[in-house]
Amino acid sequence: MPVIAIDGPVASGKGTLARRLAKALNFAYLDTGSLYRAVASLVLARGSDPNDSVLAAKVADSFTADDIDRDDLREEKVGQAASIVAANQEVRKSLLEFQRNFAKTPPNNHLGAVLDGRDIGTVVCPSAEIKLFISATPEVRAERRHKELLGRGDQSIYARVLEDLRERDERDRNRDTAPLRAADDAVVLDTSDMDADKAFTLAKKLIDERL
Ligand code: C5P
Repeated sequence: MPVIAIDGPVASGKGTLARRLAKALNFAYLDTGSLYRAVASLVLARGSDPNDSVLAAKVADSFTADDIDRDDLREEKVGQAASIVAANQEVRKSLLEFQRNFAKTPPNNHLGAVLDGRDIGTVVCPSAEIKLFISATPEVRAERRHKELLGRGDQSIYARVLEDLRERDERDRNRDTAPLRAADDAVVLDTSDMDADKAFTLAKKLIDERL
């Protein structure tokens, strides 16, 4: 089954792109960030600290697909906590098998799988047929996230969003296990000056040439 690996930092547009590609190709889609968010949400729901590595590892160990349906996954505080639990090697180990199974056996008779995250091309699916690394400047990404938050009726201050995003980037890029980076054979797409349609058209063309 063909696999498309899409990695990139916070609000790079990788999720929107991955979802659209999966739909266009009739592939199953997995937002792997939601797994780390689910673990973080479960840790926070217990009133615990995401830095408690023993507890986070235990929660990840009993992770099931149903946990992805938790209501608070898109909240900023869950995103921050997700990047803390994601630096935990035991947490990553527990979630690896779920992701690899999804890629190997996409659910619902899909013809392939699209996975997006931080380490799909480098660790989860190193032999993916297509690897894309989506980037954009921190300012552009913060602006997108800020508008998204306002759009859904949340309060948001641009400067705060930018600061949180830099903090999360820093943690994701500098952790010891599976840091955020482009795989050597990934195609890098800078979407700073692109809208979602342009990014989709470019990515789809590349995939059609290669698959
Ligand atoms: O992509 P999203 O913002 O939902 O991811 C939340 C956090 O989960 C990221 O900041 C990152 O630390 C972590 N993550 C990861 N590896 C992935 C996907 C997400 O470490 N494959």
